[in-house]
Amino acid sequence: MTGSSLLAGPDPRAGAEGLQHHLGRVGPLPAAGPDLIGVIERSGLLGRGGASFPVGTKWRAVASSPGPAVVLANGSEGEPLSRKDQVLMCARPHLVLDGAFLAADAVGADRVVIYLGEDHPEAAAAMTRALQERPADRRRAEIVLAPAGYVTGEESAAVNFVNTGASLPIAVPPRPFERGVDGRPTLVQNVESLAHAALIARRGDEWFRSLGHGSAAGTVLLTIGGAVRYPGVVEVAAGLPVGDVLGLAGGTDGGARAVLLGGYFGSWVEAGEANDLRVDASGLRAAGRSLGCGVLWVLPETASPVAETARVVRYLAGESASQCGPCFFGLRALADACERIAAGSSHGQDLERLRRWSAEVAGRGACRHPDGAVGFLRSALQVFDDEFEAACGRTRAGALRA
Ligand SMILES: Cc1cc2nc3c(=O)[nH]c(=O)nc-3n(C[C@H](O)[C@H](O)[C@H](O)COP(=O)(O)O)c2cc1C
Ligand code: SF4
Repeated sequence: MTGSSLLAGPDPRAGAEGLQHHLGRVGPLPAAGPDLIGVIERSGLLGRGGASFPVGTKWRAVASSPGPAVVLANGSEGEPLSRKDQVLMCARPHLVLDGAFLAADAVGADRVVIYLGEDHPEAAAAMTRALQERPADRRRAEIVLAPAGYVTGEESAAVNFVNTGASLPIAVPPRPFERGVDGRPTLVQNVESLAHAALIARRGDEWFRSLGHGSAAGTVLLTIGGAVRYPGVVEVAAGLPVGDVLGLAGGTDGGARAVLLGGYFGSWVEAGEANDLRVDASGLRAAGRSLGCGVLWVLPETASPVAETARVVRYLAGESASQCGPCFFGLRALADACERIAAGSSHGQDLERLRRWSAEVAGRGACRHPDGAVGFLRSALQVFDDEFEAACGRTRAGALRA
């Protein structure tokens, strides 16, 4: 079964749904009652920005922190393979605003920041127009444009940017829910998470749970790319098998070697194995994988997995905020070694170095950037073991011949 709740209604490609149409279709946003956080908790809604943390738990933590709070709706979408937040904001900006205002009422916030990437001008324009449509007394949100970059969307970097204009992660604790924007408890929540909350408040936790397969709750926005016939963003029932999801994108275009699940912070999975996995964040985590921000990217059989891995590791190394040695120097060294292997100029020890260094870099940064990067690399070393060995073998043979 596929599902559609966020993108139900007019064709998302037709542009932003206006306020009157939105209200006529989904009804007015109910006031945040005393049990709203309980409803969100019982709905099983998990964050859609990457870490899949329970949304209700975070709302309760912010609500119980002392003093007026701040809500930061995270729509920066720095992951290069992801489009789902942009599609959502361009098509259903009022659902995102509803979710942000609802969250503000639930956690006791008097400041709402809509945090967007300056490299996504259509999403920024749609959110700005939607905000202008709101009655003046509800237009208590500000739009902040963050510089493009992978780390910009990390929650402490987002808070730091709003506070100081520097989009650099800062060491935690205190976590933003304790002390964030203006030094106040801050709810940093992905825009898709907020849009789901806006519908759960209207239709209830049972309705949301019933949308998913098995124990997975709700629907999920996914960005499907790479070697598929119709790349794009789809909304499906959580828990749907990956093979069925790829079918919605017209199936793979030619042979598929592997699927990158979860984007650049996710992991490679053999194509055959991927088809049977389910887009269920909790189930994937229990199996040592991650749905991340909902990216499914298919690597064609004709591509070089080693070259592709080297390209991504180089990109992630370049996105380090250069504040922590193991992240800045470690990721650069890993990217250098990957590129030597991909170019056939490795002197054979690089593969062992990749395995050793990746273990040394993990957990050594102020934010989780290096952890995500080495998680990606380790999955590549596992799934493309033969290709990496062969690339080094060719190098060794070449060196002997020379
Ligand atoms: C390097 C890095 C980049 C991130 N980029 C984003 C992003 O672009 N958008 C986003 O919503 N969350 C991003 N996150 C996750 C946020 O830190 C945070 O967990 C999230 O916005 C919380 O919302 P959620 O609980 O609704 O997922 C990133 C995390 C890391 C470590
Ligand atoms: S771990 Fe990397 S990205 Fe994160 S703060 Fe340190 S240098 Fe910046």
